[in-house]
Amino acid sequence: CGIVGYIGSKIAAPILINGLKKLEYRGYDSAGVAIFEDNDIKVVKSKGRLSILEEKVNEEKPQGTIGIGHTRWATHGEPNYLNSHPHVSNSGKIAVVHNGIFENYMELKEFLQTKGYQFFSETDTEVFANLIDYHYKGDIVEAVIKSINEVEGSYALGVICRDCDSKFVAARKDSPLVVGLGEGENYIASDIPAILEYTRNVYILEDKEVAVLTSDSVKVYDNHGTERKKEVFKVNWDVSSAEKAGYEHFMIKEIFEEPKVIKDTINPRIKDGKISLDSINLTSEDLEKIEKIYIVACGTAYHAGVAGKYLIEKLARIPVEVDVASEFRYRDPIISDKNLVIIISQSGETLDTLFALREAKKKGARVLSIVNVVGSSIARESNDVLYTWAGPEIAVASTKAYNTQLSALYLIALDFAMKKGRIDEEFYKRIIEELRNIPKAIESILENKEIIQKFASEHYNAKSIFFIGRGFDYALSMEGSLKLKEISYIHSEAYAGGELKHGTIALIEEGTLVICPMTQDDLMEKMISNIREVKARGATVLAIAKESNKQAEKAADVVFTIPDVDSLVAPIVAVTPLQLFAYYMAVQKGCDVDKPRNLAKSVTVE
Ligand code: G6P
Repeated sequence: CGIVGYIGSKIAAPILINGLKKLEYRGYDSAGVAIFEDNDIKVVKSKGRLSILEEKVNEEKPQGTIGIGHTRWATHGEPNYLNSHPHVSNSGKIAVVHNGIFENYMELKEFLQTKGYQFFSETDTEVFANLIDYHYKGDIVEAVIKSINEVEGSYALGVICRDCDSKFVAARKDSPLVVGLGEGENYIASDIPAILEYTRNVYILEDKEVAVLTSDSVKVYDNHGTERKKEVFKVNWDVSSAEKAGYEHFMIKEIFEEPKVIKDTINPRIKDGKISLDSINLTSEDLEKIEKIYIVACGTAYHAGVAGKYLIEKLARIPVEVDVASEFRYRDPIISDKNLVIIISQSGETLDTLFALREAKKKGARVLSIVNVVGSSIARESNDVLYTWAGPEIAVASTKAYNTQLSALYLIALDFAMKKGRIDEEFYKRIIEELRNIPKAIESILENKEIIQKFASEHYNAKSIFFIGRGFDYALSMEGSLKLKEISYIHSEAYAGGELKHGTIALIEEGTLVICPMTQDDLMEKMISNIREVKARGATVLAIAKESNKQAEKAADVVFTIPDVDSLVAPIVAVTPLQLFAYYMAVQKGCDVDKPRNLAKSVTVE
């Protein structure tokens, strides 16, 4: 979910709607605002997309200058009007927007029912609004602090009170929230893009901090009411990086940014021909002590991790296990101080991943994270952080962040391999050069995007699509398949090239589309056999292969060529055609590419 809040001298509603538009990628099941107006709280909300709320707000024209807004990704209760935020307490005194889950809300609900409170929605947030109401004895800050001390779970909150004509309150734990510092006005937001056009100065709230905002001041307290000193964090993003800039969708804009952001991620870390990861304090001695690495992440970041496993094992010869964060956390993994845990996350706020990080630290492991958002929870709680400089990624389906996550993994793998003496100087230098050339290779892929576009226009009616690949190409297949599913809603599965025949090949029939990334020279013969197997059952095959690969042309029906890069670095390059394929398939089908159904960009619930 996404949250914004405003206090100042301007009419709040347009600022809230504008901010919510920038946050819509966080959820779009319903949206709403609560505005302080004429000593009362006016709530406007609606089921569905933000545009519906915007129309309603334009009709009702609330004039107040204090307000909070919310765009929802449903957890407790279906996406309908009653369950949408803001939620107002029975007395009408308190309005709340909330991102996260209050785990003990049933208990609190029962308690409040004994005190005469009534509930109209299925949400935990409505319970919280009434809990504040119950504790409210004239001091809203005290009531919020008492309430957050009684809840278990995660929250980012905005709270306005009917009795307070000059302030509102915000708080967070395990869900992101920043305070934007303006002149004569202040803001809250789940994520920086929502307020970037108004201010670049922010406070990043820590867990259990409570912020009290007036037009001219922001005070931050801990959950005992003691004031905290906060440092101003200066955002150095370009405003245009959070805008579509003439592209039809954020997704295609972000794919086109790949050459630049890969350069930004790799180049500053290469000094005098050597990889220099200043932010990572792992010495050769530290590395010697590491018996095993765990890579933990969700979704696309997890797929980057799968490639990372192949890579680190191949180069640095350290055993690597890759885990989905939600599984890792609860399977009691065997971890000690002899392990390094690499956490990968674009947002740095994914709750499953954050909790996995905490579990790893609790068990004594050192945590190195690969994160895109500076100052995010995962970045702050890790021992070492390697930032991907992908800039804000707005489309729900991750693209450029994945390429930069892979880039970061290459830097780490090469650095570890060199420190451990597993590779020689010549190989090291050659691969560094290959990494430097990746942006150019992706540029040439983007120049040929029409080939993929045409292929998509011929196949967008497919009911089911398979991706097969070996080694790095298997990792790539998983990501290609996820991308397609996320935005085009076409059923798809990814298989290791050699595994398909052990069952799933039963699903291949006349005309079934099979996509085969085949960038690994040493596995080429095997992959050709796998293509023959599916073609013999009637499949149509699209191969993604290097220009010089003549075998691919013979084996597949259509080949999309990528420049002749070394097989080792090919995954960073070869993912781009797969992203383009998913994109054009979804566009052809008329899907909402940037905001696919049921998904949210940053999932801050378990
Ligand atoms: C969500 C998004 C995915 C993303 C995953 C991990 O499920 O829809 O696109 O890959 O979270 O996000 P993170 O921010 O941790 O990389």
